[in-house]
Amino acid sequence: MPEVPNERTLVLVKPDGVRRGLIGEVVARLERKGLTVVAARMLRIPPATAETHYAEHKDKPFYGELVGYITSAPVFAMAIEGRSAIAVVRALIGATDPAKAAPGTLRGDFALAMTSNLVHASDSAASAERELALYFHEKDYLSYTRTDAEYF
Ligand code: CMP
Repeated sequence: MPEVPNERTLVLVKPDGVRRGLIGEVVARLERKGLTVVAARMLRIPPATAETHYAEHKDKPFYGELVGYITSAPVFAMAIEGRSAIAVVRALIGATDPAKAAPGTLRGDFALAMTSNLVHASDSAASAERELALYFHEKDYLSYTRTDAEYF
């Protein structure tokens, strides 16, 4: 059995990722790592949801731009499960500033700007729980075992 707990986290392919046709690239990288997609939906985030999601940034100078951007076009929202999924997903995505994100990470390979930085992922267990509830109901999570689960 895994020595680290199975975790669930939220991943959003942001408007730039959707509009650039990069949903599949993001999903592929998560899946090939051994993570499991347990729920997914595409939506245009309502402004009130965006404001709740990014409430911790509401006093930051970039808050208005951030909310405007995340509501500007559809996002692709996923619930992702796996061993240490929260930290593993953040590592696959790379640094928040894509100019500093390491090559090989999603932002390192596909993004350059801070606002349109391709992907959002929860940064802690508490954030994951709070953010997942903004986009999914309990009944949305589908449990299944990957055929290659023995390796993960
Ligand atoms: P995300 O992972 O979605 O979490 C908060 C977002 O705020 C972050 O990605 C960036 O898109 C954005 N952000 C963080 N810091 C800055 C900044 N200094 N200037 C502009 N946008 C920022």
